[in-house]
Amino acid sequence: MKILIAYASKHGTAKICVERLVSNWRGLDVTAVDLEQQSVDPAEYDAVVFGSSVYFGKLRPAARRFLDTYETVLLQKTTVLFLCCGLTAEAEYYKKKLFPAALRESAFDVLFFGGSLSTRGLSFFEKIAVRSMRSALYEESIDNGDYSAPSLPGILPENIDKLATEFRRHLAQTQRGSEEG
Ligand SMILES: Cc1cc2nc3c(=O)[nH]c(=O)nc-3n(C[C@H](O)[C@H](O)[C@H](O)COP(=O)(O)O)c2cc1C
Repeated sequence: MKILIAYASKHGTAKICVERLVSNWRGLDVTAVDLEQQSVDPAEYDAVVFGSSVYFGKLRPAARRFLDTYETVLLQKTTVLFLCCGLTAEAEYYKKKLFPAALRESAFDVLFFGGSLSTRGLSFFEKIAVRSMRSALYEESIDNGDYSAPSLPGILPENIDKLATEFRRHLAQTQRGSEEG
């Protein structure tokens, strides 16, 4: 059972999530490909985990290209979709908006792995964007009567580990089913 993890990460959050998934799946035949660095054809894999971080309300361009090129192929595979984004409250909305409905419906799961609103390592303009998102979160707290600074988002390791366990089990069942004919 060959598993492909095809992901796009600009500043490393999605990459850290993928590394955690890969270490959970030690012993399985897993290939992780950063779509920002290289392209990959999912046709030769049995299962595909596809994910991206969100920038300005969109998947990364490399992830969008992958989706445009291989959506039909992905619909024939066992898939998992995941997102990383800084605005936790928007995660469910992004899942619906950014992944095609048919793919979401056929997927084993569609997950939010968390995200960062840290400005470390960002360009000048990226820092402005992130600071404005942080301000929006703060304004929202104030509107809700809470004057303390809201906690910043982070990676959600429990979501990654849960998927790792459940998907491993699912693949083992599928394989047993196909061996028994
Ligand atoms: C320039 C910029 C734009 C962003 N736009 C969004 C956005 O529209 N919505 C959101 O929830 N998070 C947004 N984020 C937060 C990223 O999704 C978050 O930092 C994520 O962890 C980045 O993942 P990566 O390190 O894998 O690229 C943005 C971050 C930057 C730097």
